Amino acid sequence: MKPLRIALLGMGTVGSGVYQIITKHGRELAQRAGRTLEIRQILVRDLAKPRPVDIPSHLLTTDFSQIVADPDIDVIVEVMGGVAPAAEYLRSSILAGKHIVTANKELLAKHGQELLSLADEQKVHFHFEASVGGGIPVIKALKESLVANQVSKVMGIINGTTNYILTKMASEGTHLETALTEAQTKGYAEADPSSDVDGYDAAYKLLILGSIAFGSRLDLSKVYVEGIRKVTPIDLEYGHQLGYTLKLLAIAKDTPDGIEARVHPTFIPNQHPLAAVSDVFNAIYIEGDAVGELMFYGRGAGDMPTASAVCSDIMDIARDSGAKKACSCLYTKNQLAMGSTVSRYYIRISVLDNPGVLAQIATAFGRSRVSLHSVIQQGRGEPVPLVFVTHEVSEADFTQAMDEIRALECVFEVDNIIRVEGEA
Ligand SMILES: NC(=O)c1ccc[n+]([C@@H]2O[C@H](COP(=O)([O-])OP(=O)(O)OC[C@H]3O[C@@H](n4cnc5c(N)ncnc54)[C@H](OP(=O)(O)O)[C@@H]3O)[C@@H](O)[C@H]2O)c1
Repeated sequence: MKPLRIALLGMGTVGSGVYQIITKHGRELAQRAGRTLEIRQILVRDLAKPRPVDIPSHLLTTDFSQIVADPDIDVIVEVMGGVAPAAEYLRSSILAGKHIVTANKELLAKHGQELLSLADEQKVHFHFEASVGGGIPVIKALKESLVANQVSKVMGIINGTTNYILTKMASEGTHLETALTEAQTKGYAEADPSSDVDGYDAAYKLLILGSIAFGSRLDLSKVYVEGIRKVTPIDLEYGHQLGYTLKLLAIAKDTPDGIEARVHPTFIPNQHPLAAVSDVFNAIYIEGDAVGELMFYGRGAGDMPTASAVCSDIMDIARDSGAKKACSCLYTKNQLAMGSTVSRYYIRISVLDNPGVLAQIATAFGRSRVSLHSVIQQGRGEPVPLVFVTHEVSEADFTQAMDEIRALECVFEVDNIIRVEGEA
């Protein structure tokens, strides 16, 4: 099978992530697609600019006309951003019969209809998984996995910058300007943060999500957009006292009267799954008539998460014309027996209320290399409960320790053992 030959338009944050994935995982990707992926050309503005990854200089060009005229290029991966000249580049690439992958939400929100129709006419692929939610595979989920549903609602935290700012303001009581400066220092916000802070970035993404979820084109000029500039720490504190968390939500609903689409700061009950989504994380909550409630959670930006989505789109194109394989297993890896697995444990034991009992049990744990993270010893009486949480330990060592503890005279009963994942 011929390799799938790719031109990248852009070698910035996302472009360098795509380049790294294709060079690092090339062999596995080729096996999965049934053909190799080959980066033939990379369009940049400045050939002399230092790049975050080593790129052979013969791949770089500033001449788009050479790329579009090259019959040996099958796929254009647009990761340059902006509307002009990206829209024109994609238009001419489609007309030249090339498949398209883009991460550009603004371009899609403003020219999506025209470009997608052109792609349909020319019978080329046009994929844009990375345009919403970075590495979260929500577009494909809506288009394919949820195709049997009538989706009635999509509600998302789809701008990581504002979520980081709101999380900081809520947890530290800081003002927006302070949290924004911190976000800029950490590289989470642009020098000009207006597209994020004023809600437009989220509105572009909502337009894409809503169009797919409801199968109807949405008009950007009819999306209500309100950013977070008016949010103060006082509002967050009052909300907290009332049991609410403030998030910049992008909301689209399919109502009997039409589709509503809006982006604005919103108080949601602390129990809502979106309330727990903090820092730069994104999440998209969906209601479908068959599936019920669903939530997708993950990193909405960054070189590798976004590149993960871009590469998944490239793989869809490669697979479509590659040697299809029903089975996705490439390896024969060893599968661990439970005794070799490692976990943390919560243990509740009923013991005699005598001095030295705790020490006896701790010594038994120690003999089997089980180290303790925390211990609770409360109340008096007969028997008295003792609660332990261990650090990570092998199942075999833990079982050995528990056998010894069960045999101790001071132990009435091991009441419960529950595995613990993650640290509280
Ligand atoms: N960054 C993220 O985490 C993220 C997440 C989701 C989606 N996206 C989307 O992905 C796209 C790329 O974002 P990014 O952060 O990777 O951008 P970026 O770091 O600014 O990189 C842009 C790249 O495109 C090149 N470029 C820009 N305009 C060009 C032109 N007119 N001609 C030739 N080359 C041009 C630049 O060349 P030079 O290097 O020579 O200047 C640079 O290599 C955007 O649409 C963005 O919205 C980004």
